[in-house]
Order: sequence, then C-alpha cells, then structure tokens
Amino acid sequence: MAEHASEEDILLAKRIISAAERHDLQALKVLLCEGSANVQDPTATVATSPLHAAIVACGKADHGEEADENAVSVVELLLGNGAIWNDLNKEDETPGCIALRQGQKKIYAIMVEAGVRAELLFSKMEELGLGDGDEHEAEEEDESREEQPAAKKQKVSEDAVKAIQKAVEDQILDDVSQDNRAYLKSQLRYKPGILLDESDNAVMMDWETQIMQRHAETLIPKAGLRAMNVGHGMGIVDTAIQTHDCAEHHIVEAHPQVLQRLRDQGWYDKPNVTIHEGRWQDVLPKLVEKGVVLDAIYYDTFAEDYKALKEFFSEYVIQLLSPEGMFGWYNGLGADRQICYDVYTKVAEMDLYEAGFDTKWEDINVPSDLRGSKAWEGTRRPYWTIDIYRLPVNTFVK
Ligand SMILES: C[S@@+](CC[C@H](N)C(=O)[O-])C[C@H]1O[C@@H](n2cnc3c(N)ncnc32)[C@H](O)[C@@H]1O
Repeated sequence: MAEHASEEDILLAKRIISAAERHDLQALKVLLCEGSANVQDPTATVATSPLHAAIVACGKADHGEEADENAVSVVELLLGNGAIWNDLNKEDETPGCIALRQGQKKIYAIMVEAGVRAELLFSKMEELGLGDGDEHEAEEEDESREEQPAAKKQKVSEDAVKAIQKAVEDQILDDVSQDNRAYLKSQLRYKPGILLDESDNAVMMDWETQIMQRHAETLIPKAGLRAMNVGHGMGIVDTAIQTHDCAEHHIVEAHPQVLQRLRDQGWYDKPNVTIHEGRWQDVLPKLVEKGVVLDAIYYDTFAEDYKALKEFFSEYVIQLLSPEGMFGWYNGLGADRQICYDVYTKVAEMDLYEAGFDTKWEDINVPSDLRGSKAWEGTRRPYWTIDIYRLPVNTFVK
C-alpha cells in the first residue's frame, strides 16, 4: 500500500485483514475483488498481512487440534490471490514460521507447498527471461517520449546503469559472500575450528565434521572408486574421502589461499589425488571434454546460490557421473529459517528429478547446543539455526 494511503484504502485493508482473522471465507472472497491479498494496515502497531492474521488466529494446536476447514480454505484463498508466502511481519516471521511455532502442521504443509510453487515459477520466469519486466516497461516508456533526443536517452540510461552498478558493488564490498568472484578475491582467515571470509562470514566450521564424514561414507561405499569433491574449505570432507581407498580423488578449488593450504599440507603429493585449480565453472567443461567418468561427486562451494547448484547437477553431474554413480551436495540453503530450508529441499528434489536423479534423504541431528553458542562469536551471522540436516544422496533414475 502507498505510504500515504487514503482513509478508504486503510478501511479496506482493515476489513480484509479482519475477514482473514475471523476466517470469514465469504466476506474475504468479496473483499478480494476490491483489494489485494497483501494489504497491510498502516495504522496497526504490529504490521501484519492477511495471511499472518489468518494463521495467528488458528491458535496453538496443543492437543493435536488442527486448524478447521474454514481456516484452511481462507489460507488457500489468500495464496490463490497472490499472498506472498515469505512475507515478513515486524517480528521477522513469515506466515509459515507462525504455523510451525503454533504446531499447525496442515497449514505449515500448505505454506511449504506455496513456497515451492512460487520458487519454481520464479526460476522458470527467470529462465525464460521474464524476470526483468520493470526494465522492459521503462524502455517502452522512454520510447514513447518523442521529444527526448536519443543522445539524452542514452545518457540517462548510462547514469542509471552506473548508479545500480555502484550500489551493487558497495553491497558486495560490504559482504563478499554476495558474489562468488568477489569472495574468491577476498582475504580468508583460517582459525581453530573455523574458516572466515573477509566479511566475517563463516565459510566452514568444524561442527560439520560428522555431516562431512557421512557424505563421504554414503557416496563411496567401497574401495577403488573414482571420487571428486568440489570446494576444499577446511579439508574435512577430503580427509574423510581419503579414508575410503579411492582409485582417484579429484579436488576442485578456486581460492588462492585454499590452494596454498592444499600445497602446504602436502595434498598435491598424495597418491591418487589430483587438484584442479580454478572455478568449477571453468574446470568441469574441460573434464567433460576429456571424457572423465566418476563414481562419486560431492559439491560444497561458497558464495554461490541455488541457481549455481542447479547448473552444476543439470549440466555437469549428468555428464561426469557413471551410470551407477552417486552425487551428494551440501544441503544448507535457507538453514537459518525452517520453512526456507523445507522449501529449498523440496525445490532441489524436484529439479534433481527433472534432471534425471532420484534423491534419498538421511536426517542428521545437528549439535543441540549449536544455536546461540560461542561457535558463532566473531561471525557475521549464524548460517545454521535449525535442528536437522537433511543429507541428500542422488542416483540416476532407473
Ligand atoms: C564451504 S567450503 C567447503 C568445505 C568442505 N566441504 C570441507 O569439508 O571443509 C567451500 C569451498 O568452496 C570453494 N569455492 C567457492 N566457489 C568455488 C567455485 N566456483 N569453484 C571452486 N571452488 C569454489 C571455496 O573457496 C571453499 O574452499
């Protein structure tokens, strides 16, 4: 809603939120013909969307009491009308966070599904180049102003592009984990039990040792296999891989300091180990070209988003992995908020299936004293706040 909303708009927002809160399906249907499912009441002390209001009103499902059909229909109606699944209220909670906190399993599942649908749609739109609608609109608007000389038009857009570039660069300088190339140029610090980047992000921590060992175990069930790990970090997973008697152990790493550490620790001289220096985006096409075949591939990089992981498995794993081979990846996206973790886990499973992989999940409890612990002292933010790590093992669909 605009900053200076009219009294009429505020009244409509209040009525929509109230109908959502009362789970009044009929009233809400009528009101949504006039107003948006994402209205906010600017006069409310606790900013809340209709979806937040509808879910708060479900109360706690303390004794197995689930939200009734009406409440479910209201949530579905709001989502069907474009309510944003991961909108935050002032308490920094999404509607799904509230459902989880209240033990409303059915509503939580609906919110996860909505998140998955939204993320899949978003990534499809990006793939089709439909994600930058604003830019196209702005261009069209410019062209319609005939009196504007072409040179000036050019100047305006160049200035705008420079301003955007500067804002992005400033943001990246402040946090190098926002950009893979900026991270790879940044100064790292190896400290006991932790690897930090220049912006104090924890790149890797030793509480993940059990998870890394399990990844190595699940991917390399017998001796004599050909394994590849992408992202050396603290060398935890590579140390674990070394215990499984591989015929080949490939390590792909791009950060100069990590490569120096590999040199200092004698990894280049270990039998059967091959270090591939550079970004996987540059290294893997060459391995594909050479016809390299692997039985186990593990992916755990840093400062890369889900799009990179998807490119990794749908472009390269499918070409490098042997028919009986196994692929594993560090499943850490969204691990600072349960609903985001659940949504990304599901999205990944669906994209992996589309690329030709089956996924088996193994749940691992993370150390119970990790949340709020001293381990995070000196880091920019805790990247892990949830209780269970869902470890994926992928094989080709038979
Ligand atoms: C989270 S750490 C890996 C931790 C590792 N699994 C372990 O057990 O210690 C990520 C590593 O990926 C490397 N990396 C980041 N982007 C990369 C890229 N595009 N290509 C290759 N390596 C990359 C980083 O330099 C870092 O060493």
